[in-house]
Amino acid sequence: MVLIKNISEIKDLVSEWKKEGKTIGLVPTMGYLHEGHESLIKKARKENDKVIVSVFVNPTQFGPNEDLESYPRNIEKDRELCESCGVDVVFNPEPVEMYKNNASTYINVQGLTEGLCGASRPIHFRGVCTVVSKLFNITMADRAYFGEKDAQQLAVVKKMVEDLNFNIDVVGCPIIREKDGLAKSSRNTYLSKEERVAALILNKSLNLALKKLKNGEASGENVINVIKGVIKEEPLAKIDYVEVVDSKTLKPVKKIENSILVAIAVYIGKTRLIDNFTFNRE
Ligand code: PAF
Repeated sequence: MVLIKNISEIKDLVSEWKKEGKTIGLVPTMGYLHEGHESLIKKARKENDKVIVSVFVNPTQFGPNEDLESYPRNIEKDRELCESCGVDVVFNPEPVEMYKNNASTYINVQGLTEGLCGASRPIHFRGVCTVVSKLFNITMADRAYFGEKDAQQLAVVKKMVEDLNFNIDVVGCPIIREKDGLAKSSRNTYLSKEERVAALILNKSLNLALKKLKNGEASGENVINVIKGVIKEEPLAKIDYVEVVDSKTLKPVKKIENSILVAIAVYIGKTRLIDNFTFNRE
């Protein structure tokens, strides 16, 4: 396994691989890798000849008051995990390498980015789409792997790939959870002991909503109220949003008839956590 920091170096390597007819799987990450990332890497390893994991805390997707500076970083541990999973290349550029010469081109996916996380993080998806498209171009990957925990990100990246005719398959992978149900996230490391316990309220509220849906609940508003009711019981929790949206359009759903995404973002203390599930009424 090699760690590459330069764009020109990784481009030369992938050109060689392409000449040899190798397929390339890309796992884009911001590092501080956990079992969620590991599951993406393992899937990429199974489905491709070569696997690249990018580790880049992308400044353009953080708002001015967000956690860019404090975002957890540990390239040595990331490197070890990648090595143990049979990764070929860890691509770990510096921000000046990724955004050279006052880079001034951004990719904006409209519509899908307006609600959910996009409402409280207005420049977030513009930054994600810009860096992801750069990574697609740099790595010439055949497949790219994203977690379903960031359900809106996955939908937005798929739309960008379709709209801009990128020659890449975007593969979504299931949410990986701690034993007690908390969705794995690099941001979980921000939580104090007390907050870690409080954070279980996200999964608890979603489980109750799923139960109601399975019992026939068909009103989006009622599902939202069930979730809000549970979260409000937890004094350390503050709701950013609770939404029931169509899985494809991400538009709010009043009457639940088809496939929906139930998505929440909740502050536990200062840490903003997200979680979701999809439900299909057939
Ligand atoms: O999901 C993430 O970690 C990031 O948004 C991504 C896709 C690596 C882009 O920076």
